[in-house]
Amino acid sequence: MEHFTVQFLPDHRTIRIHSGATLFETAGQADIVLVSPCGGKGTCRKCRVRLEPSGEEALACQFQVTEDLTVTIPRASRYYRPQILVHGREKKITADPCWKKVNLPRPPASVDELRNVLSSVVGELVFIPPSFSFTSGDDAAATTAVLHFTCHNQSQGWEMVCLEKSNHRHLYGAAVDIGTTTVVLHLADLQTGKTLATVSTANPQHQHGDDVISRIYFASEPQGQDWMQRTIMDCLNEMLRQAADEAKIKTEQIYELVAVGNTTMNHLLMKFPVAQLGQSPYLPHTTQAYDVAAQSVGLTLHPKGNLHTVQNIAGFVGSDTVAGAVAAEMSTEQQTTLLVDIGTNSELVLCHQGRFYTASCAAGPALEGAKIRYGSRARDGAIQRVVIDGPDADIDIDVIGDGTAHSICGSALIDALAVLVQLGIIDSTGRFVEKEKLTGKLSPTLLNRVIEYEGQPGFVLADGQNPVLLTQADVRQLQLAKAAIRAGIRILKKTAGIKNSQIEKLLLAGAFGNYIQKTSALRIGLLPQVPVERIHFIGNAAGGGALEILLNRTIRANCQTLARRMEYVELASRPDFQDIFADSLMF
Ligand code: FES
Repeated sequence: MEHFTVQFLPDHRTIRIHSGATLFETAGQADIVLVSPCGGKGTCRKCRVRLEPSGEEALACQFQVTEDLTVTIPRASRYYRPQILVHGREKKITADPCWKKVNLPRPPASVDELRNVLSSVVGELVFIPPSFSFTSGDDAAATTAVLHFTCHNQSQGWEMVCLEKSNHRHLYGAAVDIGTTTVVLHLADLQTGKTLATVSTANPQHQHGDDVISRIYFASEPQGQDWMQRTIMDCLNEMLRQAADEAKIKTEQIYELVAVGNTTMNHLLMKFPVAQLGQSPYLPHTTQAYDVAAQSVGLTLHPKGNLHTVQNIAGFVGSDTVAGAVAAEMSTEQQTTLLVDIGTNSELVLCHQGRFYTASCAAGPALEGAKIRYGSRARDGAIQRVVIDGPDADIDIDVIGDGTAHSICGSALIDALAVLVQLGIIDSTGRFVEKEKLTGKLSPTLLNRVIEYEGQPGFVLADGQNPVLLTQADVRQLQLAKAAIRAGIRILKKTAGIKNSQIEKLLLAGAFGNYIQKTSALRIGLLPQVPVERIHFIGNAAGGGALEILLNRTIRANCQTLARRMEYVELASRPDFQDIFADSLMF
C-alpha cells in the first residue's frame, strides 16, 4: 500500500499515512481533533478543511488521502478553540469569572463608604474582610477595587480582595491540567474569555517515578512530600511565566489559577497526605475543592491571587474526571452518555436518567506500550496504525516519522489485536491458533507473518533488519487491560440497569482516545457494542473543563453540584467483579 505525506496548517504538523485514510483520521493522528456531530457520515458538514494551494473545501471525514497534501484546518472545524465545542455542539462560554474590578469614583473615606459604593455597583452586598484595615495613606489614592467571588457549599458572594492605584481593567487567569505525565496550562483573558496562550511540559515529578504509586511512595516521607510540592509549583511558575511572556502580560496580572488533575496530583499539589492513596482502600485525604492564597503555596500570581482546586471523587477518580464531565456538559445531559478516558487508570462516567456513576479501572500501562515487547509511546518510529490491506492479502502499517518502524504505540496495539481477531490468528480466548490450522485460511504473505519467537507464537508487523512483532505474551497483557476497562463499563451499566443499546453517546476523552480507531476498539471489545456513529472523540476534556471553571462562575458552581452527585462505584469490592472481568477477557 502506498503512503503519503500530509501537512496540516497552521499547526505545521506532518504525518505519513496510508493511501485511502480519511483526512479526519489523519488529523487525529497529528493530534488535531476535528468536530464531528454526525459521527463522520458526511451529513453535518462541520469537519470542513481547505486543500492547499487551491483553497478547495473538503469534508475531512469523507476525503481520502491518495497523494501528498497540504491542508489548512479552520478554527471552526477544530474541537478546541476559544469557543469551546462539545462533540460538535457549539457551546459558547460566556465570560462571567469569579473576578471583577470596580472603578471607584473617588478615593473612599471609610470602610462603610467603600462597602456602599461596591455593593451598589455590583448589585449585592460586597463583603469586606474584617482584616482589611482602611488607611488613608496608600488607599487614599486607590482608583480600583478588586473583587473575588467565592462559592463553596451554601455560602457564596463577592468579597473585596484589595485596592489598586492603577486604573487598568485587565484581569487574567489560568487553567491547568496536571497529568501524571504531562502538564498543560491555558492562559485566558477573564473579561473576554479568549485563550491567550497554551503551554505544555512533562511533569517534572517523573524523576521519582512514572506512575502515581512510585510518587506516592516517595511523597509518604515529609521530605519527599516537600520536594513533590516544590517541584510542581516551580513547574507551574515557569509555565505561567512562559504563557505571560507569550501573551505580553505580567504574571502579577494573573489573579487565579484553576488546577485539575488526578487525586494523587491534586494531593501532591496541595501537600495533603498521600500514603493512604497507595494502599487499599485507597482513600483520598479530602475530596473538597479549595481556594487558597497563591502566595501561601509559592505560586507566582498577583500578590492577592487565588489557587482554586476542583473536587476529587475518590482515590482514583480525580478532579480531572470531574472537569472532563463538565466539558462534556454531562450535568445537563438528557441522553444516556458514557465518558471513557483511556489511560493507565481509565476513568468512566455514566450518566443515565439524572444519575451519575463513576469508576476507575486499573488497566495498567499496556495500552500505552509498557510491558509490550516492542511497545512504546507515540514517537518517531512507532507504528501508529495497522490495517488489513485488501481482502486477506496482507496488512499495512503507518509509522510516525520517516517510515522506518522500531516500535508500536497504543493506537496500533488496539489495531493489531483487532486484525489478529478478524483474521482468526488468535482465537476468542486470545490464544494464537496453531500455524498448521491457519494454512489455507490466510494468504501466504499473512501466514509468513506468523512465527515462533523466543519460544512463543508471534505476529510480525514490520519486517526488516529490526522486525517489530506482537507476541503471545503481549496479547495477554493487552487482554488484561481491555478486560479491566470493559469490566468497569459492564459494572457501571449493571449498576445503572441499562443495556448497550441504551447508550446514546459514547465520548472518548484524553490524548490516547483521539488516536484509536473506533472500529478496532469495538472489534476487540474494549468498548461496548454501540453503533460507531454514537462514538465521539472529545480531546483533552479535563483541560477544557478547567478553562470553563475558570471563565464562568455558574459553571464553577454547577461543577460542585455535579461532583456531589457523582456516585463512585468501587469495582474491586464488587462480588461479581471477578466473573465479569474473566468474561471480559474474551474476544
Ligand atoms: S460531515 Fe464530516 S463529521 Fe459530519
